[in-house]
Amino acid sequence: MSETITLDETIEVQRPLHEVFAYVAEFSRIEEWDPGVARGTRLTSGAPGVGSEYRIDMKAGFSLHYTVIEFEPDARMLMTVDSRVFTAREEIIFTATSTGTAVRYIARFKFPAPLALANRLYPAAMDRVGKSTMEGLQRALEDNFAAPAQSTATALADNLVLPGLWRFTRLGYSSARRRWKPLSAYLGDRHAVVTGATSGVGEAAATALAGLGARVTLVARNKRKADATARKIRRQTGNPEVHVELCDLAVIAEVHQLADRLLAADRPVDILVNNAGALFNPRQQTAEGLEKSFALLLLSPYVLTERLHPLLARSGSARVVNVLSGGMYTQKIHPRDLQSQRGRYSGSVAYARAKRGLMILTEEWARRWREDGISVNAMHPGWADTPGVESSLQTFYRVTHKLLRSPEEGADTAVWLAAATEAGKVSGKFWLDREQHPSHIFAHTRESAAEREQLLATLRELGESTRPQKRTPRQRKPRARKSA
Ligand SMILES: NC(=O)c1ccc[n+]([C@@H]2O[C@H](COP(=O)([O-])OP(=O)(O)OC[C@H]3O[C@@H](n4cnc5c(N)ncnc54)[C@H](OP(=O)(O)O)[C@@H]3O)[C@@H](O)[C@H]2O)c1
Repeated sequence: MSETITLDETIEVQRPLHEVFAYVAEFSRIEEWDPGVARGTRLTSGAPGVGSEYRIDMKAGFSLHYTVIEFEPDARMLMTVDSRVFTAREEIIFTATSTGTAVRYIARFKFPAPLALANRLYPAAMDRVGKSTMEGLQRALEDNFAAPAQSTATALADNLVLPGLWRFTRLGYSSARRRWKPLSAYLGDRHAVVTGATSGVGEAAATALAGLGARVTLVARNKRKADATARKIRRQTGNPEVHVELCDLAVIAEVHQLADRLLAADRPVDILVNNAGALFNPRQQTAEGLEKSFALLLLSPYVLTERLHPLLARSGSARVVNVLSGGMYTQKIHPRDLQSQRGRYSGSVAYARAKRGLMILTEEWARRWREDGISVNAMHPGWADTPGVESSLQTFYRVTHKLLRSPEEGADTAVWLAAATEAGKVSGKFWLDREQHPSHIFAHTRESAAEREQLLATLRELGESTRPQKRTPRQRKPRARKSA
């Protein structure tokens, strides 16, 4: 014997129909708006549609299996639900109103007899569940959250170093995510450029941004790897707008050529994620005569971001996200030795100094470009299990790999900074797990105004000197004539 119970709730929000549909249709995001849900996982790949399946883990300790059986874009979806507690059919109907969108949620639950009795005894319980779910959805879609400020407790833990370190692990990620707000911002009309998108954090960030609907340009140096990554992201997200731009970002002339191509394409850049990175031991020099960590981690994002400024400004609300590292906490910028020519070379020191330099640029660009509506932030991915960490920090990897987070968890804050409405309200800050952290924890790493100026002057000079010269017609070599 079983009993059917029906819930029927409607909410109205001031958001366009297509935005509301895009958010709700990716049903795994129910974890952001239903207070009873612990985790939502998409089990199938491709864009949401008929056949999409989701596993929804409830905080009460059981899981629900959702299958989409009917799907009308911007109008309606119908899902079957299976679990050991009940089965259900859930229908969500979307209608445009004069001020936004109405969302009607109809759920028909079938309970086995003992649970049906409990429901008959406590009928208000089901109603309350339905109401709090829809209130959660309304709050998510209203998307009116304040950006988290830096808390004193966090700053104190960071300053004491060791208490702050556990945050970099997957435990830090799991603990932080309990406080997060829903991310319902619509990215269907945004263009994101992600560097170093063929592996680790960059690939995860590009996949998440494509999953949120953005057009994504993957910047990568290896054509085979880049094309395979683009195919994989298209297949996984169902988003066809995933494109490739080839560039060895350690070669600054190539960075200029990449900027030239993006400027010529004339498409505004709404999101730029400066992520590409590596750690070099021993010291290496590029064909342009530049020390490689400095070239890849500092001069390259400097040139790319500066040159893309017109396209970022055209967006009107662009986000620049610089992927840094906690390692920068240990280093001060040395503007007279940006290329580690003095003393004994250490790859980790060169890496950390370059990241420190990019933090200074984050603050500088945030100040300079505020009027253009561009917000510029930096983030630390935490310690993430990526090919880069495994190959360049082998001992660290051996000791910590059980505590490392996934690349997706490492990329989360970059995606949040690039997408969340509230993140766009803050600029020039350093973030880990969607929370602000100080940019310095030791007094000796602070640079003076003169050092900052010197850093900027050197970057400007090197940025210009590496720019490929445009050949005038006279300089062009005459084409070899065919001999008569
Ligand atoms: N994972 C962590 O725990 C962690 C911690 C702190 C900071 N970070 C930062 O996170 C970022 C991503 O690191 P990851 O751990 O994801 O490393 P990863 O797996 O090695 O990925 C690095 C990406 O950068 C690309 N890249 C490297 N050199 C390049 C070049 N010259 N031109 C173009 N692309 C280049 C790589 O391309 P290929 O695929 O062609 O090699 C790859 O796509 C880096 O900035 C790193 O400093 C990571």
